[in-house]
Amino acid sequence: MRVGLIGGTGLADLEGASRAIGDRETPYGPASAGLRAFEDWPSALFLNRHGDDGGPRFLPHEVNYRANLWLLREHGADAVLAVYAVGGIAPELDVGDLVVPHQLIDYTWGRAHTVATGAQPLYVDFREPFDAAVRSALLRAAAAANVTVRDGGVYGCTQGPRLETAAEIDRMERDGCAVVGMTAMPEAALARELELPLAGVCLVVNPAAGRGPPGPTVTQAEEVVAGARSRLVALLRAGMEMARSG
Ligand code: HPA
Repeated sequence: MRVGLIGGTGLADLEGASRAIGDRETPYGPASAGLRAFEDWPSALFLNRHGDDGGPRFLPHEVNYRANLWLLREHGADAVLAVYAVGGIAPELDVGDLVVPHQLIDYTWGRAHTVATGAQPLYVDFREPFDAAVRSALLRAAAAANVTVRDGGVYGCTQGPRLETAAEIDRMERDGCAVVGMTAMPEAALARELELPLAGVCLVVNPAAGRGPPGPTVTQAEEVVAGARSRLVALLRAGMEMARSG
């Protein structure tokens, strides 16, 4: 079993993910970057959705989600763990908290969000947007690695790249969102279309708009990710083992 890791803001690289595999071309155009393999972790493939350091960089609405998932599947990934930087909406969430979301609301627009075509229509079942087995592997991994995560929460995915208005966050809270980010969609829906089981972990990098000080800047978000990096890596490494062993 091969597990694809999709890194987000502040995770442009992961220690040891040094060996480039193939190029980034796909039938959907170029992926954010080529895949990388780990010398000491042969069954993992790494991709940063915003692009590699040194390569082109992509804002959330510019990411070629179709190409990224297609590339992971083409290289044999049979499960995907995604990392998301998010703003915290639920009042009990603090900066630095980790959340394994169980649901999604899609507020994005205009993104290339499907691989279905008129010739090849697809109705995918998306009632549960995250794969139950991969989610449970992540939760067991968190326990095994002694990393505290919150089990469940609704991820509201906004279009960005601007941050939300305070009223938008109020509405999202009424909708039931616990966290807000810009990248889980259409990534999760495309994974489902491509039959790639996917679950993810959110790192809260700021209180959502109107819930705390203004911001964050990208640099501030990256600093929070840097501070949480060892916890995230421990979780991903353990998660990958759990996902492999079922
Ligand atoms: N809103 C949207 N996306 C984000 C945020 C936010 O507050 N923080 C990190 N990604």
